[in-house]
Amino acid sequence: MTKRYPFLDLASVNEPYMDEMCMAAQRVIRSGRYIGGDEVNDFQSELGRYLNVPHVVGVSNGLDALRLILRALIELGRLTPGDKVVVPANTYIASVLAITDAGLTPVLVDPDPATLNITAQAISTAINTHSGIKAVMPVHLYGRVAWDEDIRKVVSDNNLLVIEDSAQAIGARSHTDGLYVGHNHAGALGHAAAFSFYPTKNTGALGDAGAVTTHDKALADTVRALANYGADRRYHNIYQGYNCRLDPIQAAMLRVKLPHNDDENRARMQSARLYDRLITHPDVIKPLLPEFEDECIWHQYVIRVRNGKRDMMRQQLKLAGVDTDIHYEVPPHLQPCYAGLSHVPLPVTEMTASQLLSLPIARGTDLEDVAAIAEIINNVNLTE
Ligand SMILES: Cc1ncc(COP(=O)(O)O)c(C=O)c1O
Repeated sequence: MTKRYPFLDLASVNEPYMDEMCMAAQRVIRSGRYIGGDEVNDFQSELGRYLNVPHVVGVSNGLDALRLILRALIELGRLTPGDKVVVPANTYIASVLAITDAGLTPVLVDPDPATLNITAQAISTAINTHSGIKAVMPVHLYGRVAWDEDIRKVVSDNNLLVIEDSAQAIGARSHTDGLYVGHNHAGALGHAAAFSFYPTKNTGALGDAGAVTTHDKALADTVRALANYGADRRYHNIYQGYNCRLDPIQAAMLRVKLPHNDDENRARMQSARLYDRLITHPDVIKPLLPEFEDECIWHQYVIRVRNGKRDMMRQQLKLAGVDTDIHYEVPPHLQPCYAGLSHVPLPVTEMTASQLLSLPIARGTDLEDVAAIAEIINNVNLTE
């Protein structure tokens, strides 16, 4: 019988943490505190220490984290509705949804085809083409940090706000300092960052969860108030806010998993290195290994399949027992909801969208499986 290689089995991902998670769940249930409280506060402190960032606000999910940051920047007078935000066009749609939801205008740019991340060159070109650009949202796509000396220079020279979309990159580090000297974790590089703890993320909750991280106390206080009906204290609403809080039960699950994030990431790095060494199929473009290993935490291991053969490869892999996924098949600007969105031509985004194929890499896919999957890929015949 053919062995099956699932793309992602979340029950296997969480199995090693079962006993601790059950104990943490009991702790929350027995506490009688189901909104806010110590569990959320302790998680915020622990995440802040892990990322070396002074302010963390636990929130409901990654999209809300981005929305809250942008709304807070507007409330603080640092952005005005209509301002433009540069964002890579090949991101998950949540990055763009947050920008338009805040009444800001996304300026979509093509990524570097080698890293699939935004570049300083693309940001400069956008600045030279558009007036009113006030911010940039680097997305650390697939867990690869989108930050280097050139990006730091272009954002500093142009006084741009930097909102990192760190949803996929918990634990990744840049080898260039962020805007704040000595801080180099994804999520501590710019003015503020959004994290997602959606269950499939490297550190995933048992439902929706997210966090905002920032160096800026005023921004953190504003986000915290906005996420709690706009209240800065009980029944005192200074903003027309939302309910976007992190649940203590999810904070408790995340407190179990966060201490293991580096180990989980290292296992993915090993798998990525092995895929890189073993895949030799002529139609496959492998993702670039980063110069420094911790610059990428391999939330996804995404190959590209040339010559219009991605779907055929996917089909053949499925027949051979290997489940794959596509991140993302249709970029935001080609989604029906953004039919009217103006943008420059985005040839890299559109070309790569038709080539991308994500291979299994999470816990549950061990090194033997990686070797077997690489061999299956190498044996796929894509001639018609
Ligand atoms: C790049 C990126 N940004 C934002 C989000 C939104 O996070 P969430 O699913 O927690 O709302 C995601 C997640 O799925 C993501 O991959």
